[in-house]
Amino acid sequence: MIRLILGLCLISKVYGKFDPIAFTVSQSTTTFSGAATIPYSDNITIHNAATNIRNGIFTCPRDGIYKFSVFGCSAVSGHFALDLYKRNVSLATLYGHLNGGQVVSGNTVIVQLKVGDTVQVKSKNAATVSLQSSSKENTFSGVQLGSQALYSGDHTVVAFSATSNHHQNVMGNNIVQYHTKLVADGGVLDLFTGVFTVRSSGYYVLHFASTSMQNEELWLDLFVNEDYVCSIYARADFEWASASNSVVLHLSAWDKAGVFSRAGRVSRLYGSADYIFTSFSGTQIVSDEDLNNPDTEPVVIFSVGLSMNATVPSGKPVVFNRVFVDLKRAFNLNTGVFVVPVTGVYEFNYHCLARANSFLSLVLVKTNSWVNGFFHLRNTVHPFSAGNSAVLELTAGETVYVMSDYTYNYLVGATDEVYCTFSGYLLHSSGPIVIG
Ligand SMILES: *[C@@H]1O[C@H](CO)[C@@H](O)[C@H](O)[C@H]1NC(C)=O
Ligand SMILES: *[C@@H]1O[C@H](CO)[C@@H](O)[C@H](O)[C@H]1NC(C)=O
Ligand SMILES: *[C@@H]1O[C@H](CO)[C@@H](O)[C@H](O)[C@H]1NC(C)=O
Repeated sequence: MIRLILGLCLISKVYGKFDPIAFTVSQSTTTFSGAATIPYSDNITIHNAATNIRNGIFTCPRDGIYKFSVFGCSAVSGHFALDLYKRNVSLATLYGHLNGGQVVSGNTVIVQLKVGDTVQVKSKNAATVSLQSSSKENTFSGVQLGSQALYSGDHTVVAFSATSNHHQNVMGNNIVQYHTKLVADGGVLDLFTGVFTVRSSGYYVLHFASTSMQNEELWLDLFVNEDYVCSIYARADFEWASASNSVVLHLSAWDKAGVFSRAGRVSRLYGSADYIFTSFSGTQIVSDEDLNNPDTEPVVIFSVGLSMNATVPSGKPVVFNRVFVDLKRAFNLNTGVFVVPVTGVYEFNYHCLARANSFLSLVLVKTNSWVNGFFHLRNTVHPFSAGNSAVLELTAGETVYVMSDYTYNYLVGATDEVYCTFSGYLLHSSGPIVIG
């Protein structure tokens, strides 16, 4: 009884804070002709009564800064070129095609919106889009940023997002450059140098994506100061090839983050005014100052990676071995399972690279049910990557993990080659804490 009363006191203290607009929708029917809006007819999560996403069109109900992620998966030998639009302006592009195979590509951007602004995904030009239909590979997610920032009054949301609309040949150890800023970030990302300089210490989620030119390699590494974090790799014969990754890190004021071409390699990135593939975006999830404030919402963040090769049999979770962050010690490194410590709405991102001449089939599982994933992708010649993302409403005690859905998934990793990552964090809590 005393515990209960104490619990209720705690609850009244931690509730009632910023509740974000947040959604993930998916598309299972497959073929769209040029300029059509992808209707995203299946809802994975529509959080918050104010979230307005209908027929694939998100209409902004509150001024603010929003993060959008889109993933597409081509049908066998199918093709897609999709643009993420804010009103009539393309923010970012996704492309996928492989003769006799399927590919996944994704992109994430952060953008400032005003009430009434629309955001949607459209098929490019006259070409028909042909997407894989089986199981929620094709997703569109949006999250309003600022759960802690809006609460702490004088803070503003710390976010940057930049894209490139030029081809780039990035020599080994050289940094990727960007040309367009999607949010006014007060100079935290320098377009001229490509460097993100941290002004406010705290936990940040970072996303980067790119696409190689036909037959060319893309091998990019995220560094913070001198420290290697994670990579993307892509190459396809006679095709453009895409890859993306995400990670959550603790960053201190004056840390510098940037995306570099792998030492000794040249990354040839495709980019034009119409094909905006290369992006680098990030936002602070919580500042150190807020984290140390007892009134702050519960903070749950984990981010893990794979720094070795792993063969994952069907029905088993991917057991990640490198920990970037595990604030509530809720991610079990022995099993690969995240046990939800606080009821609320969460965002998850996962990515991986499979070895050449293998199948790749992974799903995000929420307590025994599939959320989304990518299925039986195959590439015979080069390693290939895929990823996905989801907003989920979860109850304390539920589990979330990335599971193999094929006899063997051969995932690629090494100490300085982390392509496979899995990150999740609480956006807003709405129930009691189970694990302290
Ligand atoms: C998905 O959510 C939207 C907005 O809440 C709603 O209009 C639509 O009917 C839902 N679709 C399905 C298939 O449940
Ligand atoms: C978008 O619409 C605005 C206002 O109608 C117009 O000025 C602008 O040129 C358009 N941009 C594109 C890319 O079509
Ligand atoms: C890991 O897999 C890659 C791709 O198949 C291979 O090149 C590499 O040698 C493997 N590493 C180890 C330590 O077996």
